[in-house]
Parts: sequence; structure tokens; C-alpha cells
Amino acid sequence: MERQRSFSFKPTRLMLFSFTIFSSFLFLSTFTIWLSKSTSSLHHHHTPLHFNSSSSSDGDTVGDNFQSLTGFTQNFTVTAVRIPTLIDNRLARTQKSLSGFKSEASGHHADAATAAANATLNFTSMQDSGTSPGERFSEEQKKVEAASLFEKTQVPVLNKAEKETVKGCDLANGYWVFDESYPLYARDSCPFIDEGFDCEGNGRLDRNYSKWRWQPRECDLPRFNATKMLEMIRGKRLVFVGDSINRNQWESMLCMLFGAVKDPKRVYEARGRKITKEKGNYSFRFLDYQCTVEYYVSHFLVHESKARVGQKRRPTLRIDAIDHGSSRWRGADILVFNTAHWWSHHKTQAGVYYYQEGNLVHPRLNVSTAMRKALTTWASWVDKRINPRKTQVFFRSSAPSHFRGGNWNSGGHCTEATHPLNETLSSTYPEKNIIIEEIVKLMKTPVTLLNITNLSEYRIDGHPSIYGRKTQSSKIQDCSHWCLPGVPDTWNELLYSHLQSR
Ligand SMILES: *[C@@H]1O[C@H](CO)[C@@H](O)[C@H](O)[C@H]1NC(C)=O
Ligand SMILES: *[C@@H]1O[C@H](CO)[C@@H](O)[C@H](O)[C@H]1NC(C)=O
Ligand SMILES: *[C@@H]1O[C@H](CO)[C@@H](O)[C@H](O)[C@H]1NC(C)=O
Ligand SMILES: *[C@@H]1O[C@H](CO)[C@@H](O)[C@H](O)[C@H]1NC(C)=O
Ligand SMILES: *[C@@H]1O[C@H](CO)[C@@H](O)[C@H](O)[C@H]1NC(C)=O
Ligand SMILES: *[C@@H]1O[C@H](CO)[C@@H](O)[C@H](O)[C@H]1NC(C)=O
Ligand SMILES: *[C@@H]1O[C@H](CO)[C@@H](O)[C@H](O)[C@H]1NC(C)=O
Ligand SMILES: *[C@@H]1O[C@H](CO)[C@@H](O)[C@H](O)[C@H]1NC(C)=O
Ligand SMILES: *[C@@H]1O[C@H](CO)[C@@H](O)[C@H](O)[C@H]1NC(C)=O
Ligand SMILES: *[C@@H]1O[C@H](CO)[C@@H](O)[C@H](O)[C@H]1NC(C)=O
Ligand SMILES: *[C@@H]1O[C@H](CO)[C@@H](O)[C@H](O)[C@H]1NC(C)=O
Repeated sequence: MERQRSFSFKPTRLMLFSFTIFSSFLFLSTFTIWLSKSTSSLHHHHTPLHFNSSSSSDGDTVGDNFQSLTGFTQNFTVTAVRIPTLIDNRLARTQKSLSGFKSEASGHHADAATAAANATLNFTSMQDSGTSPGERFSEEQKKVEAASLFEKTQVPVLNKAEKETVKGCDLANGYWVFDESYPLYARDSCPFIDEGFDCEGNGRLDRNYSKWRWQPRECDLPRFNATKMLEMIRGKRLVFVGDSINRNQWESMLCMLFGAVKDPKRVYEARGRKITKEKGNYSFRFLDYQCTVEYYVSHFLVHESKARVGQKRRPTLRIDAIDHGSSRWRGADILVFNTAHWWSHHKTQAGVYYYQEGNLVHPRLNVSTAMRKALTTWASWVDKRINPRKTQVFFRSSAPSHFRGGNWNSGGHCTEATHPLNETLSSTYPEKNIIIEEIVKLMKTPVTLLNITNLSEYRIDGHPSIYGRKTQSSKIQDCSHWCLPGVPDTWNELLYSHLQSR
């Protein structure tokens, strides 16, 4: 799921058949957004908005040619704060400096001062009170509360996390907690965020979306320690392979690690490449740790090819052959794969003369069947080429998108959301994840699933929406990718906790 440009290589094709591919979700939720004290000079309108909620497990994106409206459509009501479109720059700057503390916290445990400011609140308790922590606690109370929390829990929490994080603890089962000590890095301190994910740089003013911490029910996630992570990957290659959502996660990882590097010059792209959304071939070297953090684009993990069908040469997908870029993944020490969003009806020409095995181009093949075959090809490549004593293999489950009231190309939106959903009422777990799980179970190489689907489902507030570009001229919103700092940081905290537990 590379963005706009790569789609333009695939010219508009008429969709021949329309059918529902993905499991549908129903959800009905009301959420409330609090008035920001710091923006109290703005005019707020509490506006009840009625949205159609249509949710698709396919994170289809801006710039793609077709997106069939899938899933159940359901109205829901929110109370939203409408931020006036004309906001003067001075105010924007003030807000920026107000949140300036976070650059110090980047990549490290927060110091005592930060800890004191850590007004951690339960999502539920916030809901119940309907007020912000700032309103609920006086500054003094906040300090006392936070300090005692710190004293009481800091040591046991860490010990518990080390022992229990992964073993026997379902990290996917939990809730989001508002935590002022987040984000883990400041947008301004990270030079690797590209335009599509640079929400703040593109004018998004609300920041709360970057201040949520994932709290598993049965244990604690260890706080990401960039120094420790860099020590864990010293002399190694950490490689992300997949679509643009994996690029999203990879950029997040670069930012998280960069916080622990003293001399920024000692981090660079091996061939001097600049990150753009068009290319997908990067290796960033962290000189002090002799390690690289790499990303290779592969939409399907198998080989995108061409074949003659009748008179025409058509693009095909070789579901029986691993992506030709695989030679670069091979020597990695840690591999993080994903594929999901491109397995959609319209991105695969409805399966009509698209999937190829050997010389056979299937006149028609169902997308689930094709994906299963492709992942089987991937799995046997891993089993054959990867030495499990050297390489740890991860597969990230699919990330949800949150288009409301339409699809990416029919007015679907998520701009209004500045707060996570109270609850998700997804009725079905995405079929693509089930396919992945089933295939992974049959493999001889141990593959860890990074199960991020459900936790991300709450995070309607985490998408770039109209802030995926410098200029908000387009009506098309991006409710598929994720702002940085933001939700992918949590995926990397999960990755970190898995690595640490070995
Ligand atoms: C694809 O085929 C499988 C098995 O033949 C079937 O269960 C599934 O419903 C089909 N999916 C679609 C989208 O047609
Ligand atoms: C939000 O969640 C809480 C706890 O799960 C629930 O009690 C409350 O009714 C929910 N609010 C809405 C509007 O759904
Ligand atoms: C962000 O969260 C804080 C703390 O919960 C709250 O006071 C503030 O109003 C929120 N801002 C917005 C724009 O929702
Ligand atoms: C909901 O979406 C449907 C189809 O996209 C549209 O016909 C209908 O007018 C929408 N309703 C509202 C309230 O937006
Ligand atoms: C959504 O709400 C609108 C107006 O309230 C109504 O006309 C429409 O039928 C509703 N759509 C659904 C799917 O409930
Ligand atoms: C992060 O890890 C490093 C190396 O293990 C350690 O020295 C440091 O104290 C850790 N930082 C925090 C805040 O725990
Ligand atoms: C913030 O508070 C929570 C208590 O719920 C604690 O687990 C966490 O470690 C605190 N973070 C910091 C940086 O003190
Ligand atoms: C959050 O609230 C729930 C129920 O109100 C409670 O059981 C849980 O301990 C709280 N968690 C934290 C971190 O405060
Ligand atoms: C992922 O997490 C969800 C929610 O906890 C769960 O329903 C699902 O079974 C999990 N999948 C795997 C492979 O653990
Ligand atoms: C990636 O870089 C390698 C080495 O420079 C080059 O051989 C390869 O063609 C590149 N692949 C892509 C997809 O740009
Ligand atoms: C995870 O999502 C699936 C459907 O997507 C749902 O059935 C399940 O209840 C969810 N689990 C949690 C813990 O939210």
C-alpha cells in the first residue's frame, strides 16, 4: 500500500465485479471531547454530528483508484469540538512551546519532573468524569498523586514487566491510558518522518492522540528504552518488509531510536537516500551500535510480475514466487513482515487474470485463496532460507482504517476524531489475520505475531486525516496510515517487549 504515486502506476481500471471482501463491523459509539484550556480563546462549538460509520478491515488509502464500500453502515453520534479553520500562527506557536517538554523525554524514561506531571488516568474514569485531568486535579494534587504512584509502583512494575510481559500475558488485551509522559519522542526531534505521517508539521494542532499508552490487562508493557533497544540490536540488522503501513512503523522505530543517539551525524542512510513515499529501499546505519534499521517495500511479499494473456501483457502476481527483493531480507537478525491492505478486490483486478502460478494465469481466483497461497509461498521461503538461531521473525497483524460516512474517495473522513473510541464493537476478526495465524502455525520457524489489530481499532484519532499533506487542498482524507509520533510507536513497544523477553 504505497501511497498516491505508486498507485498512479496502476491506471484506473474499471472494476468489473463488486463484492464484499472484508468482514464487516458494526459499531455504535458515542464519545466526548473535552474543551482544551489552552485553546480556550478559540470558539468551540459543541456540535452533535451524525456520521455513517462504515468500517473496513482493509486500510485502503488515499489516492487509490477504487474502494468498494464494504461492511455494515451505521449511524453514530459524536460531540465534537470544531476547531475554527482560521487559527493564527502565534497561537500555534504558543501551543508548540507549551508541549515542548516532550523533547527531553524522548527515548528515555521520564525523569522525576516528568513523572510528577504524569497524570495517568484510566480511559474509563475519564469518560465517567467527563473532565480533563487538568480540571480534576489541582497542580498540587496531581504531583502528590503522581509521585505516590511512582513510588509505589515503579520498581514492582518494572520487575513484573521483565518477567511477565510476554510469557503468559496477552498483550493484545487491554485499554488505552492517557499518559502525559508520552509521546516517546518529539516530532521536531525526528528527521525521519515523511510528509504523509507528519501530522503536526502539516498543521494538526491537537496532540492528545500521541499521549495514549497501551495498558495490557494482565501485565505492563515495559517503557521503551532506546538505549537498551540499540544495545539489543548492536551489530545486527533490524529489517521491516511490507507495505506503507510497515514503512509507517519503520519510521516510528527510527524516531524512537534516534532519541538515544548523541551525535545525529552518526545516523545516516547507507546510500544517502532520502525517505520518500515513492521508494522503498532504505538502510539506516546507527554507527555507534554498528546496526542497521532497514525497510523494503513489498506489497504482497510475493513477486509482482507480468504475463501475456491473450493479446495483452498484463500485470500479474506470482503467488508461487517470493518477492525478488527477498535476497536483501535474508541476512537480517530481526525481520518484521506485514501484508494485508493490498489483498483487496480492486487492487488485484478482482482476481481476474491476475494471479499466476508457473505459466498458469488463473482466469479467476478468490482473494482469500490467493492470499493463502502467497503466504504459503512466503512461509516456505522463511522455513528454507531463515536460520531461526540467527533470525527472529515477526509478522504484524493488519491495521484497521477508520473512514466514516463514506470511503477514502467518497467523502470518508476521520478529521473530527481527537479522542480514541470508547469501545469497538467489531463483530469479526479480519479474515486476513486468520489466514496468517493458520499459516504461521504450520511453519517450522517460530514466527511471533504482533497482534495490533484490536488495540489500533480504538484509535480513530491517530490517522493523518487531512494532515497527511502540507497543503490541505484535497478533500480526500487519509484514515489508513498513522500520524507520527502516534499509534505505530505502540506497535514498536510491543516488538520491544517481545525482543526483551527472549
Ligand atoms: C473464497 O473462497 C473461500 C473458499 O472457497 C470461501 O469460503 C470464501 O467465502 C470466498 N471468499 C470470497 C470473498 O468470495
Ligand atoms: C464508554 O465506556 C464506558 C465503559 O466501558 C461505558 O460505561 C460508557 O457507557 C461508554 N460510553 C458510551 C457513550 O458508549
Ligand atoms: C487533551 O487532553 C487533556 C487532558 O485530558 C484535556 O485537558 C484537553 O482538553 C484535551 N485536548 C483536546 C483538544 O481534546
Ligand atoms: C450514509 O451513507 C449512505 C451511503 O454512503 C448515504 O446514502 C446516506 O445519506 C448517509 N447518511 C448520512 C446521515 O450521512
Ligand atoms: C442515519 O441517520 C439518518 C438521519 O438521522 C437517517 O436518515 C438514516 O436512515 C440513518 N442511516 C442508518 C443506516 O441508520
Ligand atoms: C535504559 O537502558 C540503559 C541501558 O540498559 C540503562 O543504562 C538506562 O538506565 C535505562 N534508562 C532508563 C530510564 O531506565
Ligand atoms: C505514569 O504512571 C503510571 C501509573 O499508572 C506508571 O505505571 C508509569 O510508570 C508512570 N510513568 C512515569 C514516567 O512515571
Ligand atoms: C482502571 O480502571 C479500572 C476500572 O475502573 C480498574 O480496575 C483499573 O485498576 C484501573 N487501572 C489503572 C491503571 O488505574
Ligand atoms: C489478537 O488479539 C485479539 C484481541 O485480544 C484476539 O481476539 C485475537 O485472537 C488475537 N490473535 C492472536 C493471533 O493472538
Ligand atoms: C534497492 O537498492 C539496491 C541496491 O542499491 C538495488 O539493487 C535495487 O534495485 C533497489 N531496489 C528498489 C526496489 O529500488
Ligand atoms: C478483537 O476484535 C474481534 C473482532 O475484530 C472481536 O471479536 C474481539 O472481541 C476483540 N477483542 C477485544 C479484546 O476487543
